[in-house]
Amino acid sequence: MSQSNAWKRTHYCGEIGEADVGAEVVVLGWVQRSRDLGGVVFTQLRDRTGTVQALFCAPAPAGVIEAASSLRNEFVVGVRGEVRRRSPDTVNPNIPTGHLEIAAMEIKVFNKSDTPPIYIEENLNVNEATRFKYRYLDLRRPDMQRGIMLRHRAAKVTRDFFDENGFLEIETPMLTKSTPEGARDYLVPSRVYPGHFFALPQSPQLFKQLLMVAGFDRYMQIVRCFRDEDLRADRQPEFTQIDLEMSFVDSDDIIEVNERYLKRLFHDVIGVDIELPIPRLAYAEAMSRYGSDKPDTRFGMELVDIGHIAAGCGFAVFEGALASGGGVRAINAKGCAGYSRKQLDALAEHARTYGAKGLAWAAMDDQGGVRSPFAKFVADETLKAMLGAVGAEAGDLMLVVAGPDDRVVCESLGQLRLEVARRERLIDGTGYKLLWVTGFPLLERDGETGRWNAVHHPFTAPMDEDVPLLDTDPGRVRAKAYDIVINGMEAGGGSVRINDQALQNKMFGLLGYSPEEAAARFDFLLEAFRYGAPPHGGIAYGLDRLVMILAGLDSIKDVIAFPKGQTSACAMTGAPTPVGADQLVELGVQLGPRG
Ligand code: AMO
Repeated sequence: MSQSNAWKRTHYCGEIGEADVGAEVVVLGWVQRSRDLGGVVFTQLRDRTGTVQALFCAPAPAGVIEAASSLRNEFVVGVRGEVRRRSPDTVNPNIPTGHLEIAAMEIKVFNKSDTPPIYIEENLNVNEATRFKYRYLDLRRPDMQRGIMLRHRAAKVTRDFFDENGFLEIETPMLTKSTPEGARDYLVPSRVYPGHFFALPQSPQLFKQLLMVAGFDRYMQIVRCFRDEDLRADRQPEFTQIDLEMSFVDSDDIIEVNERYLKRLFHDVIGVDIELPIPRLAYAEAMSRYGSDKPDTRFGMELVDIGHIAAGCGFAVFEGALASGGGVRAINAKGCAGYSRKQLDALAEHARTYGAKGLAWAAMDDQGGVRSPFAKFVADETLKAMLGAVGAEAGDLMLVVAGPDDRVVCESLGQLRLEVARRERLIDGTGYKLLWVTGFPLLERDGETGRWNAVHHPFTAPMDEDVPLLDTDPGRVRAKAYDIVINGMEAGGGSVRINDQALQNKMFGLLGYSPEEAAARFDFLLEAFRYGAPPHGGIAYGLDRLVMILAGLDSIKDVIAFPKGQTSACAMTGAPTPVGADQLVELGVQLGPRG
């Protein structure tokens, strides 16, 4: 047998099972741990499927046992031997191969390893900087490997589903022009055109619309997108979208295909059955009931408008909020009447970080007596009516936010709702609640400049019945846009697009683009629309977010092989790095004071 054939794997470590007892196998992998008990060496071998124990002792040749005795963690080895059952007292019930072992007859050390800077074990508690610097070691950990393998499965199911449903995967450029997703662009200088820059795509939005004009009818792509924005647990500067576009459709057609897709994805990847149709909630209702455009509907504690009770109640804070066109809203924190001053202060602080001016509360003790800082300002019946409106019973705590801007009232109370749910552990971490949020506003005013901005992007179509409002009350126009929300997270979003040039121009006008500005940014799209653009629309999911949700994790970084760290840099390669002066000269780029 040639040397290379001698060390061909016959089995993955984790796949050795009862059926292999008595068979000769070859496993290849890393030493998880090795113990030398003097002439008897127990070695756990690991590959991406799991671990198996190899036992080195007589009658294995003395040289083999000696070689095994020098094994250290993370050595790369091959072991040949016979699979057999372990004696009952040595069975490890915690691992799938725990009742078996390989009685080793031969060993090959492919490579040694320095002592690794991080332990290769599940749920490792090491700081992120070290994990990212040694990502290739971090990725050896079984939980990380499971996440990455699940990601592969999700991508495969996605491609299969859309292929079966007539979608074509078509690539779009990475070196392109700024797109309208609203974050900062990553720019790439052009050597051929000094002073000119490509932008890396924030999404393939414009190209997928052009593919509809080109007649491809159903497009999909699993595609990298780039956005220079502040990072959070669910945001990375480069991330992956599952991007779709369809022709001759309205919102319902797009939602229908996507519901079947999500059902298939959850079923095939994690064996969970999603009930269809997925509930839909209008944006306005989502805001008033949950104080969020991505409500977590795994628990109740809905917001209640108590403005009609607070009107004329005598408490200046509530009355003032209403007088300036704002709102007074409340939630019932069930069973939280016993919250201490400190806990209430922490909740008030939490509400303040989301714009609330303060937090009012009323606690109902077990005898039905009410304790509240604003009780002295309002009549007993008024306070009772408020508690009744939120359904408060003995032992409950009503939390009230009042303010001159009803949206801020809703959003800060919505955040309190989430905070109380976290503190009280109201969220069932094992279930999945999916929800479409529809009927978003088309436009929103920029707080600083007072200009209209597109909530989604400038190509999103208004609802037909709201088109006349574009001339009279643009802020009330609803968009043909929809987000898919899973467990309170925005997993994807899309819209039906404008395919009428006059309407598109009106939209640009509202957004404050002069015809020249619009032409300078989007001339190719507007021109394309002159040559027969079919009605079209689409959606994009964050693949990283979907996989994070499927894997039951809290950060998308755990399902990205090589993510960026907190400062958008790569701890392993050191990117971004300075470049040589000659490179800059060639690109025609001169650094300013910040460089
Ligand atoms: P949108 O900007 O809503 O829509 O993005 C779609 C989805 O992409 C994910 N996502 C992100 N994931 C990780 N890190 C980020 N920085 C990040 N930004 C967005 C989210 C989001 O729901 N072209 C439109 C789609 C369309 O209209 O068809 C678009 O990009 O899960």
